[in-house]
Amino acid sequence: MTGPNPRPPGGWWRNAVIYEVYIRSFADGDGDGIGDIAGIRGRLAYLRDLGVDAIWITPWYPSPMADGGYDVADYRGIDPRFGTLADAVALVSEAHDHDLRVILDLVPNHTSSRHAWFRAALPSGPGSEARGRYLFRPGRGPAGEEPPNNWESAFGGPAWTRVVEPDGRPGEWYLHLFDPEQPDLDWTSAAVREEFEATLDFWFDHGVDGFRIDVAMALVKDPTLPDAPPWDRAAVGPPRVPPVHPFFDQAGVHDIWRAWRRVADAREPRRVFVGEVALVGPAGLARYVRPDELHTAFNFDFLRCPWDADALRATIDGTLAALGAVGAPATWVLSNHDETRHVTRLGRAATGARGLLDGRRDVADLELGTRRARAAALLMLALPGGACLYQGEELGLWEVEDLPVELLQDPTWKRSGHRVRGRDGCRVPIPWSGDAPPFGFGPPGSVPWLPQPPAWAALAAAAGSRTPGSMLALYRRALRLRRDKRGFAADGLRWIPSPRGTLVFERGGGLRCAVNLSTEPLALPAGRTTLLASLPLDDDQLPVDAAAWYVETPPTGPRDGEAGR
Ligand code: GLC
Repeated sequence: MTGPNPRPPGGWWRNAVIYEVYIRSFADGDGDGIGDIAGIRGRLAYLRDLGVDAIWITPWYPSPMADGGYDVADYRGIDPRFGTLADAVALVSEAHDHDLRVILDLVPNHTSSRHAWFRAALPSGPGSEARGRYLFRPGRGPAGEEPPNNWESAFGGPAWTRVVEPDGRPGEWYLHLFDPEQPDLDWTSAAVREEFEATLDFWFDHGVDGFRIDVAMALVKDPTLPDAPPWDRAAVGPPRVPPVHPFFDQAGVHDIWRAWRRVADAREPRRVFVGEVALVGPAGLARYVRPDELHTAFNFDFLRCPWDADALRATIDGTLAALGAVGAPATWVLSNHDETRHVTRLGRAATGARGLLDGRRDVADLELGTRRARAAALLMLALPGGACLYQGEELGLWEVEDLPVELLQDPTWKRSGHRVRGRDGCRVPIPWSGDAPPFGFGPPGSVPWLPQPPAWAALAAAAGSRTPGSMLALYRRALRLRRDKRGFAADGLRWIPSPRGTLVFERGGGLRCAVNLSTEPLALPAGRTTLLASLPLDDDQLPVDAAAWYVETPPTGPRDGEAGR
């Protein structure tokens, strides 16, 4: 196929619900304490019954696990901890049998320092072709003892590490926007571009439906590698990179996505890209999802938005306006493997997510957070476009904030000088069944790589399945309604005037969603049919921190007649 992609109006990804499988923590088939492909294969029926459209599997490639697999040593293999390539192929085919699409996670900004390319680059010395695939530079200062510029690693500390040259002397520095074990690739290198396009084809040949693209706004750097401007990450509102920034959101990055789009569009059925594009704001985000670039991108402004009606409405409107202008749908998201779980976040005084290096941890009221999380789920799943769920949010899991420090694996803990605990608390293995750890995560007697709180017994999937009104029951019902009611597939939304602190909007076919973020109950119209509510209604009153879906007009067809929670 050549030429621009005529965007099909009905592309499945336009309103898909994607489920993020953080593979290390989803399900452990072989009992080594670490989740794996066998574990995912055993849970496909659960995912189908939940009602999601696709699964995104976090990196499963061979990796030293310096950053939980986001340090890839071989992009076309499977880490033996997770299984084999044959297992992966079987998983893709079984997922398809369950009507689930499979999206892999590609990490093109950096490789592992154990990748063959980096291992070849070290002994090859300055100026070599092998070093040209990465960003090696001489240091500043009389003896090159200072890093080439002031860039900081996302995990803390300088973004440069100095190497020892083959002659034993200190030599060049290499760039790593993340951990030193994650050297950044130089995307001006033709070899790098060709290799990744071939990797896309490799996995497309194995039947995968698309990729989530790691830090998709970071691949291209200002070639002069200037110092970065000061950047107030703690500023109020969603964090934004300064408009001109040397390693985020450089214009040249879009050429890469156009080239990748051509690779995806050459396939039948068409394959899909979901970008991890953070910190660029709605207009910036829209540039990544133009018709000949990525299909969609996670909406981090929504994730970071505080639990506040005005702020949420502004985020929703800003997103829809910016993405609508390029014909792209939004993909809403509340949690992922990098962020504090939203049950905890929404139970804190400061409800917006704060980013990786913010170590503040005020106390969370988990009951309040759970109530709001139920409402947030109905809000997210009623919005136009797609959504992405993070494993365990459908069970109501909270952030595990008291993991013993000696078990912490996130490089943030070490790189921040033991100041920021990092992301392990949202990566604790999933409780599936039973009354005690490992809660069916692995076989009886196995020890999950991070300890599960005993109180998760009440949240295990089996318990949630048995309990009417559980978080799992709410998600299942919401996802079922999303599939059944065609109004959810309509474009856009219409705001309905409502009291301060509340959000009411209409989708297609008279479907309405009301969310009460105020301090007073919200009266819902009497002549409605309630489809689903996050908390029991009190007559026609929607309680504080609750949400409901309803239709205003009397139902017309038999499918629209069903009611109740
Ligand atoms: C993305 C991933 C995160 C990882 C980082 C570096 O933000 O989601 O887990 O640490 O990229 O690859």
